[in-house]
Amino acid sequence: MARQQSAVVVGGSTGIGLAVSKALAARGETVYVTSRDKARADEAARQIGACAKGLAVDLSDPAEIGAQLSEVGPVDHLVIAAIERDENAVKSYDVTRAIRIVTLKLVGYTEVIHALVSRFTPNASIVLFGGQARARPYPGSTCVTTINGGVSAMIGTLATELAPIRVNAIHPGIVGDSAAWSGKTEVTERTAARTPTGRLVTLEDCAGAVVFLLDNRGVNGVNLAVDGGWTLL
Ligand SMILES: NC(=O)c1ccc[n+]([C@@H]2O[C@H](COP(=O)([O-])OP(=O)(O)OC[C@H]3O[C@@H](n4cnc5c(N)ncnc54)[C@H](OP(=O)(O)O)[C@@H]3O)[C@@H](O)[C@H]2O)c1
Repeated sequence: MARQQSAVVVGGSTGIGLAVSKALAARGETVYVTSRDKARADEAARQIGACAKGLAVDLSDPAEIGAQLSEVGPVDHLVIAAIERDENAVKSYDVTRAIRIVTLKLVGYTEVIHALVSRFTPNASIVLFGGQARARPYPGSTCVTTINGGVSAMIGTLATELAPIRVNAIHPGIVGDSAAWSGKTEVTERTAARTPTGRLVTLEDCAGAVVFLLDNRGVNGVNLAVDGGWTLL
C-alpha cells in the first residue's frame, strides 16, 4: 500500500495555516500542525481530524527548532505560515521587537527547512508565507515590509540550493476573514473598493493557492501574489 503523504504546517493553529492544514487533511495527508503552545497545537489537530498531530515549535528561538521537529518523519509538503503581529515604525523603533520578528520569519523559516532537509521526499515541495506589505507599505510596516521582502528574496536561493525540491511563496493581500483584520472595517472596506475584484481575499483563497503551489511540478521559485489584483492599482 502506498505511504500516505505527509505535511508539516508551521503556524497551523489559527488563520491561514489552519485553513491549509484542513485542506491537506481533507485529501488524506497526515498533517503535523504547530503552535508555540503544545495544548493549542493539540486543539488544532483535534479540529483538523484523526490524521493530524500537534507539535510545539517556536521560531523566535531557532536553535531549538531541530529538537522540536525531531519526531517528524518523511515530509512531502512543508508550509510555513507563522507570524507574530507587529507594528514598528522607524521613528519609534523597538529593537527588541524588530530582532524578534526578523528572527522568526527569516532565520526561523530557514532553520525549519534546514532541520527537515534530510527528511524531504524526492518530489517534496515547500510554500513560505510573505505578504503584500512587501510592495504596499503603510505607517508601522517597516519590519513587516522588510521581512516579506526577505521572503521574496529567499525563494530563489532556496529553490536553487534545494533542487529538485520546489520552493515557492504566497504573498496575500488583506485576508478579509482572518483575525488580523477583524473589526478594522475602515481599512478593509477601503481596500476592497480599491481591489479590481471588488473583494478581499479569503482564508480559502489562500489555502487553494498553497495547494496549487504544493502540487504543480512546473511551478518553482515563484512569488505568488494572492491579492485580487490589489497592488495593480
Ligand atoms: N492575515 C492577513 O491578512 C495576512 C496578510 C498578508 C500576509 N499574511 C501572512 O500569512 C501568514 C499567516 O497569517 P495569519 O493571519 O493566518 O496568522 P495568525 O492567524 O496570526 O497565525 C499565526 C500562526 O503563527 C503561529 N506563531 C505565532 N508566533 C510564533 C512563533 N514565535 N513561532 C512559531 N509559530 C508562531 C501562531 O501559533 P500560536 O499563536 O498558537 O503559537 C499561529 O499558528 C503569516 O506569515 C502572515 O505574515 C497574512
